[in-house]
Amino acid sequence: MSFHPIGIFDSGVGGTSIWKEIHLLLPHEKTIYLADSINAPYGEKPVEVIKQLSFKNTDKLLSLGCKLIVVACNTATTNAIQDLRAFYNVPFIGIEPAIKPAALRSRSKTIGILATKGTLSSALFSKTSELYTHNMEVIEVEGNGLVELIESGRKDSVETEELLRRLLKPMLIKKIDCLVLGCSHYPYLIPTLKKILPQEVQIIDSGEAVARQTKAILEKNKLLNSSLDFPAPEFFSNKNPEVLAAIINSEAKNYQVSYLDF
Ligand code: DGL
Repeated sequence: MSFHPIGIFDSGVGGTSIWKEIHLLLPHEKTIYLADSINAPYGEKPVEVIKQLSFKNTDKLLSLGCKLIVVACNTATTNAIQDLRAFYNVPFIGIEPAIKPAALRSRSKTIGILATKGTLSSALFSKTSELYTHNMEVIEVEGNGLVELIESGRKDSVETEELLRRLLKPMLIKKIDCLVLGCSHYPYLIPTLKKILPQEVQIIDSGEAVARQTKAILEKNKLLNSSLDFPAPEFFSNKNPEVLAAIINSEAKNYQVSYLDF
């Protein structure tokens, strides 16, 4: 049993889509969320920089007493999680594009993957993709520009819809039946995606699976909090904390977000 918090980080506000699932599944766990928004987007940065930023975020969460780290960013997971696991002795949970579930669900054997350049070009992503999609057509599209729009509070704007329509065009031409959201920011685009995609296209993201894995690893390491309290989550951002506050409070909640220099 451990009262220590679960630490969660992302390049910005997107990882709150994972935080929500963790908070829902593990309400007695304290969570600390770190948005490295000043460095967003990670997706077009060199691998070495993504690694440095992931180490910096981990150091901050560990200095706040975290017992387990959730890398709520596909780009950081696919480029840095092996190094993080090798260096620190706390458990790490990562998030990767849900290729396997999409491959299993697709009937047309044609799926789309929307992710950052950093994720799509990573060795970990290629390995997983090769394993599950050898008999399928996979249309990979870099979501360039989407993270910036979400980070600036414009996720529901006309600009975002226009960009998405452009990005999804090659997938629509090929008639995908599953769209994998390979970036933790993209679940916030689901209302707009639903306007663009035919009804039969399934949208798949990894949030719930990450929450289940977090619970399983806490259990395995005997790190679950046995108290029946409902500890308040803490949110920190190093740029525009109001954007993070608007995202997490969209369902009439009143969570506080603090500015933190890290
Ligand atoms: N949320 C990050 C991911 O899942 C966004 C990447 C970025 O900052 O470009 O990949």
